[in-house]
Amino acid sequence: MDNNKEIMALQQESIEILKDLQVNTPCDLSKLDLLKKILRFHEHRYYIINDPFISDFEYDLLYNSLKIIEVAHPNLITVDSPTQRVGSSINKSFETVQHLVPMLSLENSYDADDLMDWDRKAKEQSNLSVIEYCIEPKFDGASISLIYENDLLVRGTTRGDGVEGEDITNNIKQIRSIPLSAPFSKYGIKQIEIRGEIVMTKVSFTKYNENLISQGLSPLANPRNAVSGSLRMKDPKEVAKRNLEAFLYHVSYYVLERIPSTANRLPKVGELFDNQQATVNGNQSTVNPFTTHSNSLNLLWNLGFRSPQKEKQVVEGIEEVIKHVHDFELMRDTLPYEIDGMVIKVNDFALQERLGMTTHHPRWAIAFKFKARQATTKLLGVEFQVGRTGAVTPVAKLSPVQVGGVTVSSISIHNKEYIKEKDLQIGDTVLIERAGDVIPQIVKSQPELRTGEEVPIEFPKQCPVCKSELFKEEGEAVWRCVNIECEAQVVEKIIHFVSKDAMDIKSMGDANVRKFYELGLLKDIPGVYTINFAEVATTEGFGKKSIDNLTAAIEASKQQPLYRLIYGLGIRFVGETTAKVLANAVEHLLDFATKTEEDLQKLDDVGVKVAKSIYYFFSNEQNIAMLHQLETLGLQLKNTKKATVASGGLQDQTFLFTGTLSKLKRSEAEALAEQHGGKIVSSVSSKLNYLVVGEDAGSKLEKAKKINTIKIITENEFLELVKEENI
Ligand code: IVH
Repeated sequence: MDNNKEIMALQQESIEILKDLQVNTPCDLSKLDLLKKILRFHEHRYYIINDPFISDFEYDLLYNSLKIIEVAHPNLITVDSPTQRVGSSINKSFETVQHLVPMLSLENSYDADDLMDWDRKAKEQSNLSVIEYCIEPKFDGASISLIYENDLLVRGTTRGDGVEGEDITNNIKQIRSIPLSAPFSKYGIKQIEIRGEIVMTKVSFTKYNENLISQGLSPLANPRNAVSGSLRMKDPKEVAKRNLEAFLYHVSYYVLERIPSTANRLPKVGELFDNQQATVNGNQSTVNPFTTHSNSLNLLWNLGFRSPQKEKQVVEGIEEVIKHVHDFELMRDTLPYEIDGMVIKVNDFALQERLGMTTHHPRWAIAFKFKARQATTKLLGVEFQVGRTGAVTPVAKLSPVQVGGVTVSSISIHNKEYIKEKDLQIGDTVLIERAGDVIPQIVKSQPELRTGEEVPIEFPKQCPVCKSELFKEEGEAVWRCVNIECEAQVVEKIIHFVSKDAMDIKSMGDANVRKFYELGLLKDIPGVYTINFAEVATTEGFGKKSIDNLTAAIEASKQQPLYRLIYGLGIRFVGETTAKVLANAVEHLLDFATKTEEDLQKLDDVGVKVAKSIYYFFSNEQNIAMLHQLETLGLQLKNTKKATVASGGLQDQTFLFTGTLSKLKRSEAEALAEQHGGKIVSSVSSKLNYLVVGEDAGSKLEKAKKINTIKIITENEFLELVKEENI
């Protein structure tokens, strides 16, 4: 699809259709095939080329109009329609199936000498003095094989034992960078098996782990494990949420339509083109795509696959290979996904065939492994840290060890379940992994190396800091210190209170809070406003200028809007958005002291759990006393903004922003909506009036589409809305 004319035509046609759709003129049946083609084109721009031509919102408009036609004419739904990825039925089990060609693994090399040896053998065997190689990243994910027949994706399989794998077709179809159909027939290919790797980007992996941790579940050690687990999920819809991506790097088998003799055997490399010319886009193709590996990657790319076409490098001779793999290793951390090395392949297919295979691996390819990001070390002890909410987290203290260029000496081991799952004891030898810039994790312990001197990890019954008894709520994995005066919690709470998204007291920071606390100059949140600066001036490191800055920042924070104060109080489950909802729900913050859990649950964005937590906070006498104290100190507990809000024309309309906005920052857009009387909510529900979608909108948009009372609008439409309302 690199043909410029075709691209322009498809984009033009998209614009024409979108014009109609935006004035609510639906597409008719005659547009069915065109819509599918257009949607595939935009999926390709988005998922393969990473350069979308239209917004997600516009894509959704097109997608919905295809859906409308298909609902009216179900007999016209084709298996490769873009609508057919979603909604695959639950996988009952994954059938074991045989690969068309066994999936061999690769020989490994670790240094220049290994590569020189390998090259020497290949040269000897082929009688050549220099060999051309194609080098590409070794993607660190889970390998898969795909079969396309008559241009349609018919099967997707895990590697399994290399001979047989599991049929995971339904799940594979959820990965948007894998085309459901591709025009192989243009090349005379009737059936083809392609291999590749499914990966999860580092960003998606971090989010995935954060989500697991927030649910009290154990995080995974690396994106590879996250991918393997994801591919075997029972519900394909869950797979779709995991943001998996696919790189296809190897054609292992193909059957040609026009050479019947090849139909029941492995074709000879390039056979089609020895006998006849293929036609590409109706023109005679002059390039034989199956003569070299690099051409096969180009072919896959042109067919709409994400092959490492841009990442590959063709070089002459092993010295160039050695230089390139070392250069690439330096860039490793700049890639959005994990790679664990490079794969070097003999570029010429005819030469590949001459070199052949051993029983384990091809002689024409080798993996060059990068420096390990795993290391073995000793678990010396466990420290228990108390967070702002009183959560007690065990942190493993390790004998310091280098992993991928970074020294690691402590790692969070999350909770009791995690410790049990990984079978950790003090004194154990543990394998740790640092996946790129991702936080290090323990992969496993090595109980087989135990000497008998190891000690089980005992969870404290009392808070390690204030010694009060710890509690665990039912269904939660976390043990908590519930003493609100606990020193550790108090310090963390003050740090949160002054932080950027809360009261934003610049130049206060973690270090100063800790210092003032240790000096006895700060002991609770109201204390921020009564710090004895005369005394601070006598301590080292505080000049007049820094004290002036600090006092000015503290004074300025008194005017922060109510929602920042609410957020800064650190009430459990009350994030920024809920804080805004709360701020808008009352005239004065202390009004919450008279609200019941039921009252609270009526607010947008406030469920049973959140209501309980807010109620608990405002039922506590010490908290109420603290709020009175803050008011006396000059903080704003009244909702001064509410008066403005009340006059706004968007009064009581709820807004949610999703995706990346191009003109406004998220916070600016939210403030704008509020200035006009709107309310911000954080989740999609029937209480939502407007979902404003920017680029990369994800699950919120999907969810909103199912609730037909929600108005889905673009950023421009939102700006129009506030403008109109202004007049
Ligand atoms: S080629 C017959 N190319 O590495 C050769 N493999 O250790 C087929 N891998 O099982 C493999 N990136 O899962 C090839 N660019 C790449 C690769 C790659 C990752 C994986 C693949 C294979 C394993 C071998």
